[in-house]
Amino acid sequence: MKTILVTGGNGQLATCIKDLEQSINGFEFIYVDSSELDISKEDQVNCFFSENTIDWCINCAAYTAVDKAENDKDKAFEVNVLGTKYLARACEEHGAKIIHISTDFVFGGDACFGYCETNATNPIGVYGATKLQGEQELEKLLERHFIFRTSWLYSEHGHNFMKTMLRLSESKTELNIVADQIGTPTYAKDLAAVLLEVVSSNSEAYGLYHFSNEGVTSWYDFAHAIFDISEREIEVFPIKSEDYPTPAKRPHFSVLDKTKVKSTFNIKIPHWRDSLKEAIKQID
Ligand SMILES: NC(=O)c1ccc[n+]([C@@H]2O[C@H](COP(=O)([O-])OP(=O)(O)OC[C@H]3O[C@@H](n4cnc5c(N)ncnc54)[C@H](OP(=O)(O)O)[C@@H]3O)[C@@H](O)[C@H]2O)c1
Repeated sequence: MKTILVTGGNGQLATCIKDLEQSINGFEFIYVDSSELDISKEDQVNCFFSENTIDWCINCAAYTAVDKAENDKDKAFEVNVLGTKYLARACEEHGAKIIHISTDFVFGGDACFGYCETNATNPIGVYGATKLQGEQELEKLLERHFIFRTSWLYSEHGHNFMKTMLRLSESKTELNIVADQIGTPTYAKDLAAVLLEVVSSNSEAYGLYHFSNEGVTSWYDFAHAIFDISEREIEVFPIKSEDYPTPAKRPHFSVLDKTKVKSTFNIKIPHWRDSLKEAIKQID
């Protein structure tokens, strides 16, 4: 029996992994939240790895509050950079492999094609910058690593755009949604399934991968689809990013090219609209 440590164990992605853990055999899972294992505390990480035999670590822990990070740089750095570094060191020392999750926000958003793993990064906010530095620490310290950059993560768990839209539709009759940020939603369960496939196949195809659902959309069209599929009566109006100012700037374009992940792991990725139907079914 091999042991998989899932950090950030109460978060959205970790909960999706929990939902699917029965789909693979021969593994036991340990989920830890920040009160059980704070990845930004080196002594806690070292102690945890000394007391438990870990074969794989799936690092779902992160400082994910994109806007808050702008005024909370030190905390974002502690979790996204130092936390990743401490996990990488511990995995190296104890012979474990790591799967780390990163983000489309490592890109600046001035492309007009899907970003490949080899494209230059240029984060425009603190969150993206700290996530990128976390990737770099990991790459330096541990060869046996997988980094999955993903985008617009949502599911029936945790806080995300889909759930916010469904909640707002209960009290509003119309909404203004940004239409000039283009990307691809990712159903966290689709990502979780791929991560479990990597673990169960004991893959050694280490490196950096891009993963989202298939297709391209805007937040405006995504909101529209959420209301269409869930049959909610609400009017949605497209607005520009500048008419919805936020502390952190977001990339205008962050579509990820998934050629590498599809060919390496021989997977088919669902279109975002099909996965959205699945997610809404879980909520209805
Ligand atoms: N959500 C998105 O749209 C999106 C898009 C692209 C990439 N990603 C990446 O995908 C991954 C998973 O995201 P998610 O949506 O599942 O995020 P999430 O729901 O916010 O979960 C993150 C978890 O990290 C935990 N955490 C924070 N600081 C910690 C620390 N110091 N030590 C241990 N745990 C800590 C949080 O637990 P506490 O609440 O207990 O602190 C939380 O449960 C992250 O790496 C994120 O950067 C997310």
